[in-house]
Order: sequence, then structure tokens, then C-alpha cells
Amino acid sequence: MGGDCSKFLADRTLRIEASGIRKIFDLAATLKSPVDFSIGQPDFDVPDMLKDTAVAAIRSGFNRYTPSPGIPELRRAIIENIARRHGYRPEACMVTCGTSGALALAVWACVGEGCGVLVPDPYFVSYRHLVTMAGGEPIFYDTYPDFSASAERIEAAAAPRCRVLILNSPSNPTGAVIPERTLREIADLARSRDWLVISDEVYDMFSYDCGSASFGALYDKTIVVNGFSKAAAMTGWRVGYATGPAELIEGMCKLQQFTFVNAPAPMQKAALAALETDLSGHAAAYRRKRDRICEGLSEAGYSFRRPGGAFYVFPEAPGGSGEAFAAKAIGENLLIVPGGAFSRRDTHFRISYAAPDDTIEKGLAILARLRRAFPK
Ligand SMILES: Cc1ncc(COP(=O)(O)O)c(C=O)c1O
Repeated sequence: MGGDCSKFLADRTLRIEASGIRKIFDLAATLKSPVDFSIGQPDFDVPDMLKDTAVAAIRSGFNRYTPSPGIPELRRAIIENIARRHGYRPEACMVTCGTSGALALAVWACVGEGCGVLVPDPYFVSYRHLVTMAGGEPIFYDTYPDFSASAERIEAAAAPRCRVLILNSPSNPTGAVIPERTLREIADLARSRDWLVISDEVYDMFSYDCGSASFGALYDKTIVVNGFSKAAAMTGWRVGYATGPAELIEGMCKLQQFTFVNAPAPMQKAALAALETDLSGHAAAYRRKRDRICEGLSEAGYSFRRPGGAFYVFPEAPGGSGEAFAAKAIGENLLIVPGGAFSRRDTHFRISYAAPDDTIEKGLAILARLRRAFPK
């Protein structure tokens, strides 16, 4: 068995850099019951009513292929939901296998060889790899030290070969929310350059201070991607969606037909029920967790930007190296992710506070102890 099979790996696969932080994850695997601040998914479970809907769909035989763009009633409900929450009606909508499926299809459909794609730094991990996979070139716009994306910062990074801009607000890993005024300035810039914008709004339900505007309301050449993983805790059920110009969504549907085929049928029924359910209680609970984690980090003397959304904080690593600090934390039974997993720099670390309150308290106590080992 085995032998040298590496020759079968295509350039597209080889172009993707293996994660530089694998060492940390190997170390983390040695812990038995760590205090876990590394998980990027809600700590609450799927609401019972949605579980019942999925089970009823399975039992009633709703287990076959669906139309590739998704069941019509869900697509209609997504458009109605956007119209109600954001005051605009996207031209077209398709249901995908998670937000990840929507992101992949958007990039594959619209990014070709040599196409420059503006990507925020820090970024959600898959952006740069999806672009590279498609033969495009990620061109990073730096948002350090306050993590606010702005038209000036994007313009400063833009090259003539840029055709696509990726936005993510609220952001993973920084929790930063782009205010509507800034989004309007970015829309003006995108319009003047005739860019396509891919706006990842998967955390839009988790914006704690000022709501979260949809970029699709401000600029028509936008593909908005979103999903049910965070708002309804359906991470394992793989339902997301993309909305935007009909021509582009049709292009993405063509690719979905020959790849993912369709999002899981019974889970599309559950997603429809999720749109009819008030899920805002979770956001209120996460706002309290955000407040508590910020209070604890301040008391301990960490340097960080107060996040306005999602469920992450991205503090500076005491000592200057995210990887070295994460290794120290693992030595104290605490899992955090080095900033280098999300950035070209490794100066910070990511905390996910999507955790039970007692885990947050235990994690804060460990972080306070770790911080004392470094000069203020
Ligand atoms: C910014 C961002 N976009 C997309 C995704 C993917 O979400 P999904 O589970 O819906 O594929 C995540 C998941 O962590 C994320 O943080």
C-alpha cells in the first residue's frame, strides 16, 4: 500500500500553503479537557423547534435531491428576510452548502487566472486559499492596529489588476464591525473602480452596538454570502446562501449543479423554520459575554480593540509572538489560536468567547496569570 502519490497532486493543491501553526494544533491535541477559547461556533445547541422540523422532514421522506439552487420556499423566504431586515430586495438567491459553499462558488465563478482579489488582513482563513485555488492573487489590505477596514486603506492596497473586493463585517477573527458610513465610502470606491464585492455577512445577527448593514443594500455589484451556522447554531447541517445579481448567481448555480449538487434537503426545511424563529436572544447573551471578556482582559492588562460583533477578540500577544504565547497558554491548559493563522503577521492571538460562562471565567483567570509573567 502507499508509495509516492504526491505527483498526483495538482498545482492548485500544492499552491495552498500548509498551515504554519500546525505545531500548535498538535500540542493542543495532547490536552485532555482544556479550557477552550479556540472554537469558532456557538456554544448553544440548535433550537428544539428546528431539530423537530428537520426530523419531521426526514420522516416524511424529504430526503431526495432538491432543485440545485434550493427549495423555492426557502429562497423566497431569504429574500423576504433581507427585504425586512435591510430594506432591499436582491435580484437572485441560491441556497448553498453553508456559507463556505457560497464563498467557494462566488470565488470559482468570478475569479480567474491572474485576477487580483482584495482580502482583509487579518482575514477569515479560507479567503486567501479560495482565491489561490482559483488562480487569483490575494492582495491584502491591512487593517492593523484597530482592525477597521476603510476606503482609504482599501484604495492604498489596490492594484490595477484588482477586480474583486472581499469584505467581512462583523469580522472573524477581530470582531470588528464596519460602520454604515464607512460601508458607503467603500461602496463609492467600488463603484468608481467597477469592482465586484463579495460581502461575507455570516455574523450579521451578532452585532452588539450599532446593528449591521448589508453591503448589498449599498452597491448592486455585490454577492452577499450568509448562512445558518452561527445564528441558528446549525454548523454541522451545512446550509447557507448567496444573493446578488442574477447573472452571477446563475453562474454559481451552474457550478453547484456539478459539484455540491444541493444543500442537504431536510436541513433546508429547518433553515426555512429558522427564518421564522426569533433568534435574537442568543445575540443578547453573546453581548454579555463580550462585555465580560473585555472587562477581564482590561483588568489583566491586555492590549486589544473592543470588538463590536461576532464572538471573537484579537488581543496583542504579550511578548510579541502569537505562536509563542499560544504555546504558553497550552502549557496552562488554555486553547487560543495564534494570530498567524489569520494574518501575514503573528503578533496577536484569537479568543473565541462562544463558550459557557464558567469556561469564560476559567479562561480569564489563566490569561490573567499568563499576563503577569510579562512586563506591563
Ligand atoms: C467569516 C466566516 N465566513 C464563513 C464561515 C463559514 O461558515 P459556514 O459554517 O456557514 O460554512 C465562517 C465560519 O467560521 C466564518 O467565520
